[in-house]
Amino acid sequence: MSSATLINGKEKAQQLTLTIKETTAQLKKEGIVPGLAVVIIGEDPASQVYVRNKKRTAEECGFFSIQHTLNADAAQQEVLNLIQTLNQDDSIHGILVQLPLPKHLNEELITQSIIPEKDVDGFHYINIGRLAAGDIDNAFVPCTPAGCMLMIEDHLGKDLSGLQATVVGRSNIVGKPMASLLLQANATITICHSRTKDLPSVVKNSDIVVAAVGRPNMIKGDWIKPGAVVIDVGINRVSVEENGEMKSKLTGDVDFKEVSLHASAITPVPGGVGPMTIAMLMFNTLRSAKKSSVK
Ligand code: GUN
Repeated sequence: MSSATLINGKEKAQQLTLTIKETTAQLKKEGIVPGLAVVIIGEDPASQVYVRNKKRTAEECGFFSIQHTLNADAAQQEVLNLIQTLNQDDSIHGILVQLPLPKHLNEELITQSIIPEKDVDGFHYINIGRLAAGDIDNAFVPCTPAGCMLMIEDHLGKDLSGLQATVVGRSNIVGKPMASLLLQANATITICHSRTKDLPSVVKNSDIVVAAVGRPNMIKGDWIKPGAVVIDVGINRVSVEENGEMKSKLTGDVDFKEVSLHASAITPVPGGVGPMTIAMLMFNTLRSAKKSSVK
């Protein structure tokens, strides 16, 4: 059995970031500086890491980058007021509210209060609708599935006609938009979730597998069709024993060791989907800034 090609998301993300940086430098000559505002509410440690990485990459691209940190007990109206201010601020082209939110806040109301033109996360119903209708040119596509799609295209091309794709997980952030993108590329799609009967056999029929469930090492080697392309969206923190010591480690939804023996290509965790998600956020923000200049 041969081992799968590693899909190097980190390297691809660095290339993309470089291109974005160059385009940003051009745009600056026209007097436009892409602006990204990231809002974080509370102190979730994982969210703090993600937000720090987003801010760092935005600065690397040459963007104007601002972070708003609100207390975990921030009132709903305080968040909505901040978003309204950012909606009206011409120096800001992209607004992102890091999820998950503290329980007392209404996620739907907050994500839908960002104007679609600045919704670089692609969570506004207008952007979801455009993507679902196939109007990708006018939609902001959610960053994680957009990044997955670029990696799939690298290995299989832009036209996935005749290929069977399975998305494991039906979240609004990843599973559903991922399925829309694959369908748009002519793949035949199946969306699986916790109520799916005989998940291994559904996965076994698939040329493309995208795993986004948040369960460490769930997808096993013998579930994989020989030669499939496997994209692992999971970022799970687990404890593992190393040299008699317990260590915290990141692992995906895919049993990497086993699946590598069957797949033709696979993304690692970390270093796969994660960096691509951030690069796509920069791409969406740059796109928003460009659009604002042709009003
Ligand atoms: N939390 C986990 N993934 C995401 C994402 O793509 N966007 C936002 N805003 N929050 C997240």
